[in-house]
Amino acid sequence: MPDSAPSLTPEETHLIRTSFDAVLRRPVEAAAQFYEALFSEAPGVRGLFHGDMRTQGQKLIATLSLLVSRLDDLPSLEPALAELGRRHRNYRVDRDHYSLVRRALLRMLSVNSGPEWSPAAECAWGRIYDHVAATMMAAADGQLVPSTSASAPV
Ligand code: HEM
Repeated sequence: MPDSAPSLTPEETHLIRTSFDAVLRRPVEAAAQFYEALFSEAPGVRGLFHGDMRTQGQKLIATLSLLVSRLDDLPSLEPALAELGRRHRNYRVDRDHYSLVRRALLRMLSVNSGPEWSPAAECAWGRIYDHVAATMMAAADGQLVPSTSASAPV
């Protein structure tokens, strides 16, 4: 079963929001850095992506923005994250890929956040990422039943 949504302390929420603000000041560059970090560590992953990477980067940042805006209500995102996870199975994404993306995401955040970055910020982001990844992977594995009610797209 997937883990339940982490309950973040006010300090963790603050750390995530302030570090992500820095990404939102230069989203195009931040997204490009994320994919550079990912593809330099795992060149084989590049072949999974078929669309325009700038557009892909915009979608990634938009999803992270939604996540950061809902830190106080993460369970409301579960249906949309489950759908996202099921789509990722179709993109041929497997469990090992999620660890690679975790590292690339934390690296991109650390580079962009400057003085806002700290071990505590890294830990808070890690908790959120692990929850999102667990929800997506569980859905991809068929452990989460598709919702019949409408849910906000992620
Ligand atoms: C927190 C985890 C992740 C988030 C939030 C995320 C977000 C997204 C979003 C928003 C899209 C746009 C398409 C859609 O909505 O279905 C997408 C597509 C995609 N993602 Fe992810 N993703 C995550 C993890 C991963 C991982 C681990 C991989 C593996 C390398 C990956 C590879 C891809 C690929 C290959 C596409 C399709 C690109 C194309 O159209 O060519 N993603 N992702």
